Amino acid sequence: MERSDVHLPGTEDAEIGQYGPTGRQLPAFPEPPALTSHGPARVIALCNQKGGVGKTTTTINLGAALAEYGRKVLLIDFDPQGALSVGLGINSNDLDVTIYNLLIERDHDIREVIQHSRVPGLDVVPANIDLSAAEVQLVGEVAREQVLARVMRPVLDDYDVILIDCQPSLGLLTVNALTAAHGVLIPLETEYFAMRGVALLVETIQKIIDRLNPRLQIDGILATMYDGRTLHSREVVESVVAHFGDRVLHTVISRTVKFPDATLAAEPITSYASAHSGANAYRQLARELIARGSAP
Ligand SMILES: Nc1ncnc2c1ncn2[C@@H]1O[C@H](COP(=O)(O)OP(=O)(O)O)[C@@H](O)[C@H]1O
Ligand SMILES: [Mg+2]
Repeated sequence: MERSDVHLPGTEDAEIGQYGPTGRQLPAFPEPPALTSHGPARVIALCNQKGGVGKTTTTINLGAALAEYGRKVLLIDFDPQGALSVGLGINSNDLDVTIYNLLIERDHDIREVIQHSRVPGLDVVPANIDLSAAEVQLVGEVAREQVLARVMRPVLDDYDVILIDCQPSLGLLTVNALTAAHGVLIPLETEYFAMRGVALLVETIQKIIDRLNPRLQIDGILATMYDGRTLHSREVVESVVAHFGDRVLHTVISRTVKFPDATLAAEPITSYASAHSGANAYRQLARELIARGSAP
């Protein structure tokens, strides 16, 4: 795209047929039809080795938005910090069995560990700090990159979408997530230097495609914490689009304190502040991914 073609209004006045915040014509993302049956799941890893870019927030709220559209959704907390679990009101430090035990001990079934969240259709596999030991313990395993894929297999037909919230690293846990996934979604904080490190991430994804998981696709790059009032945010999005083109999703997530507020309330924004623009942004993301074929 020519630089001169780029026109960047704020998200608030972006309407169908108008230019969206990424400087491109905003397509219509229609209300998705209800599903008449469920499964097999499409598995999407949320991945960026930088922390604080919106991986966990996106996993929770995209999951909740897909569940609102009648999709059966499983979220896998794959970060020893356990922020996803906590963000959905699960006190994972008190749990004896978490994703860690599924990875390391053979005598568990994922169905023992799955918890229902308060959102209908949204289930969670929790994690806690135990998971931090898994990376080292898995190194000696046979097919150590495929352990998460094996753990998930019994429930693939029970869900429409499985979202994996990765930890901020490109270590063995993240390699397991990318090996188990059909697609990867990369949240990028709308900040200067946001793209630093993304080349390394894309290189890692390419290696996984070549060696472990040829079906893996980059489902999209999602700009988060966008502030349409600042030239700064608009310039960053412009350069991300100039660099990654159509891989950048039209949906952009604005910066708002409602997200940390919802986390404190241990709820997705879609229920905590259902009418807020942040909730609608994640609903639009769900519709965009469905329209692109990244989710059923
Ligand atoms: N769009 C947003 N606007 C404002 N704050 C946000 C937004 N998205 C996430 N946050 C906050 O930023 C912090 C980091 O987000 P998080 O989703 O945990 O990132 P990651 O999982 O990539 O480390 C959290 O406190 C979260 O509440
Ligand atoms: Mg996180």
